[in-house]
Amino acid sequence: MTRAGIDAATQQPLLTDQQKAGWQRDGLLVLPDFKAAAALAAVRQRAQAIVDAWDARAEVFSTVDPKKTADAALIASADAVHCFFEEEAFDAEGRLVVPKSRAINKIGHALHDRDPVFDAFSRGPELAALAADLGLAEPQVWQSMLIFKQPAIGGEVRWHQDATFFVTEPISVTTFWFALEDADVDNGCLWAEPGGHRGPLRERFVRQGDTLRLEVLDRTPWPTQASAVPLPVKAGTLVVFHGLLPHYSAPNRSPRSRMAYTLHVTDGRTAYAPGNWLQRTGVRGF
Ligand code: FE2
Repeated sequence: MTRAGIDAATQQPLLTDQQKAGWQRDGLLVLPDFKAAAALAAVRQRAQAIVDAWDARAEVFSTVDPKKTADAALIASADAVHCFFEEEAFDAEGRLVVPKSRAINKIGHALHDRDPVFDAFSRGPELAALAADLGLAEPQVWQSMLIFKQPAIGGEVRWHQDATFFVTEPISVTTFWFALEDADVDNGCLWAEPGGHRGPLRERFVRQGDTLRLEVLDRTPWPTQASAVPLPVKAGTLVVFHGLLPHYSAPNRSPRSRMAYTLHVTDGRTAYAPGNWLQRTGVRGF
């Protein structure tokens, strides 16, 4: 058995009945010690190497139509390893105003398929067994993201549901959120509304040609910090949540970074919407 209580050799179910009941009730599961320290260090170091090798001067800038430029970069990243910078990292001439290693917001969105270190981290019998326990009979890992949440400047991620970005019929997208460093309320840990996954999908991110836009589907109010709970977790913890679960993270105003790595996984038995922003072939499971 691994530290997460998973029998990797036999791929037997790994969640207890109590955990499965909690998943149904809350749309949320917190699994401490899912990843060993060495595995965390390997992906953190690899992420730093990707950033070091990234030529920030190659970033395309457009003061004429920044949205069009941003949409094109996002669409192109679907099947690639692309570094995205903090919005305020550059001056008007496109020069970095802070050191590159501190200016990076995230890397996405196909690390798990394009980088061997992240591929190894993102797959294996433990994740396959977990997916099976969660009811993902045919897991398809569409997206990976390394989120830096930089010290002092890491921005807020407003309340949202991840199904907004991965519509399937019926909804099946499930988020696997790995803490690569300790996360707490001071450095911008996740907040979520347990049980909120039973509410409606409020928004949908739609692609039309080369244009992306957010559509409002339902005006149900977002949770507040009063109705939600913070999810402070230690490095190595895996947080799994349902695609309809509202969640948010506060800005990081601490001197510590809060690196996390996420995978977005749908069930291949459901129909992946042609209007989703991320379209690619050859999507694999765990
Ligand atoms: Fe999210």
